[in-house]
Amino acid sequence: MNKPKTILVTNALPYANGPIHLGHMLEHIQSDIWVRYERAVGNKVFYVCGDDCHGTPVMIKAAAQGITPEQMIEKAGQSHRADLQGFLIHYDNYYRTHSPENEKFSSEMYLKAKEKGYIITKKISQLYDPVKNMFLPDRFVKGTCPRCGAKDQYGDNCEVCGATYEPTDLKDAYSTVSGAKPVLKESVHYFFDLPKAHDFLQDFIHNTDVLQKEMGNKLDEWFKAGLKPWDISRDSPYFGFKIPGTEDKFFYVWMDAPVGYLASLKNYCDKNGIDFAPFTDPKSDIEMVHFIGKDILYFHSLFWPATLMAAGMKLPSHIFVHGYVTVDGAKMSKSRGTFIKAATYLKFLKPESLRYYFASKMSNQVTDVDLSLDDFMAKVNSDIVGKVVNLASRTAGFIAKRFDGRLAAAPYNPELLGRIAQVRKAVMAGYESRNYGDAVRAVMEFADEANRYIDKEAPWVIAKEQGQEQKLQQVCTDGLNLFRALITFLSPILPEVAKNAAEFLNDPLAFDEADKPLYDHVINRFKPLYQRIERSQIDAMIEASKEDLKAAKAVSAPQAQTADSAYEPLQSEITIDDFSKVDLRVGTITKAEEVKEARKLLKLEVDIGFARRQVFAGLKQAYKDPAALVGRKVILVANLKPRQMKFGLSEGMVTAAGPGQDQIFLLGVDDGARNGDRVH
Ligand code: MSP
Ligand code: ZN
Repeated sequence: MNKPKTILVTNALPYANGPIHLGHMLEHIQSDIWVRYERAVGNKVFYVCGDDCHGTPVMIKAAAQGITPEQMIEKAGQSHRADLQGFLIHYDNYYRTHSPENEKFSSEMYLKAKEKGYIITKKISQLYDPVKNMFLPDRFVKGTCPRCGAKDQYGDNCEVCGATYEPTDLKDAYSTVSGAKPVLKESVHYFFDLPKAHDFLQDFIHNTDVLQKEMGNKLDEWFKAGLKPWDISRDSPYFGFKIPGTEDKFFYVWMDAPVGYLASLKNYCDKNGIDFAPFTDPKSDIEMVHFIGKDILYFHSLFWPATLMAAGMKLPSHIFVHGYVTVDGAKMSKSRGTFIKAATYLKFLKPESLRYYFASKMSNQVTDVDLSLDDFMAKVNSDIVGKVVNLASRTAGFIAKRFDGRLAAAPYNPELLGRIAQVRKAVMAGYESRNYGDAVRAVMEFADEANRYIDKEAPWVIAKEQGQEQKLQQVCTDGLNLFRALITFLSPILPEVAKNAAEFLNDPLAFDEADKPLYDHVINRFKPLYQRIERSQIDAMIEASKEDLKAAKAVSAPQAQTADSAYEPLQSEITIDDFSKVDLRVGTITKAEEVKEARKLLKLEVDIGFARRQVFAGLKQAYKDPAALVGRKVILVANLKPRQMKFGLSEGMVTAAGPGQDQIFLLGVDDGARNGDRVH
């Protein structure tokens, strides 16, 4: 074996504002398998990840939930950790970008870059929300597509016709945060001078084996289009780190996100008394390897190496890019129930089923990976259960019952066992190059042969014959030694099954021992190692994913209130400013149904232009035919704090007047007012 290497392996940091889903899992599974393999062959690996906490979406989502960003990232961290554990992804450290280590590193790197002349400032004009007093990222501006006229399109591109444009090109633009019409406002921004790093980047990308070939071509397109200075600052309010030497400028989330890899490692090193310095030293021979998806190539192959270079730090050794997960041939979809959260999957299925399925379809190319649900079930059942585990379950019983758990002293078929080393070679090459599909294929072809051999010798027949004791023991020993090799080779993919198999075989299942079969060795009792997947488990998971969507839609929701008495006393006086805190919006009822278990409630969905709200309103007795409400224009209190009710979340209040019970009347809106218009 070569001299052991020390490798830092990172996985892209999931955003703290959303749950981990099966798309993310492809990457975590890919990197975890690689790490387990590298360790299995003797390399020293540091494997880190964490949450990506900063940016506008986190800030806005936290505000919508009435919590601080810090509370939100705490919650996200806990659930992300639990999901990853559930999938047997074992990071040495799962940290967060909102940390003192990260602030220190990001600031130091920025200051080094500044010292070397890589930081420039420019005045830019940007859309600004005059109600919320904040600059609006492209994704927070919506409006009518300037090309095809489709309504409610994002500020950067149209999902209907595919046009890309500037947010300022939108017609009837509105802020998705407040609904207000954005205005243009100037501010000074800080840029990293990417063009100044042009020659360095060309060299880094083309004269090394950092990237897959096909990615080099993608990068050439970007070079051809010309590198532009990179805007690394954002104005307040922003959840992030303040840029040193400024009062109200913050690092753009993508500036400190990759630095989070090193911050996570530093945090780990400090806790474990490990010297961190060599990891950033350009002269050390430690490798730094990043696993990422194709959508974040630009950040990792241009910005990240450029900032590292400017700071005089060690550069990435490899950037391994993967494609996207699709489900049954299509993009994951919330309405079809194929946007499957990690936690939802784990309620119904075993982590290793997905690990195995993804592995069987993974290569080192940047192609998308389809989770075809029928194929998933068929493959897990036929390969793991039918081919690998079955080999042990068909032979273990005889060894236990007839031979006191003792394996034979010699093989019956030395030729077949002699092939293990050759299979191992193919398997190792597959793992090392991240062509896991090749590794799995090599294992399964060998499993087929092993099963054919057992079928042919049929220990259950030998067992009934007189004077065939030795043959029976030897054939079953062969079966178990073949099983041992197969499960050893699959151990990076199926760590839990391998652990249980190791206990059963009473052997550590080392890669370099797989070709030295166990003879005259006592094994433990066989326990079932895997169960078949039933179709009903998959169906239940899809159904539950649709439920997840319903719950997510109902994210906010005070109950619609109705007055109980004929004349309520007048409330105390308020100023116009007090009144303007109540955000009343015009909306259209798009769904209305009764809540069966509730005496008073109707469940409504109200379209307020920039959002759809679920509202539980006490209108049941007044409006006996809920369906007739669909299409009605109403006035909604849109900024009422959401309320969790027994039947779901209520995200606003529909205004109505009247003494109560069946005497309650929705407030109406004259023709001409559009959904989302504010009541003044
Ligand atoms: N926070 C950034 C990464 C910062 S790294 C310094 C981010 N987060 S993410 O949550 O959107 O994505 C995390 C990783 O998951 C990315 O590598 C992304 O490509 C990957 N995937 C997200 N959805 C995916 C699929 N549907 N399929 C495969 N990978 C996907 O980007
Ligand atoms: Zn369009």
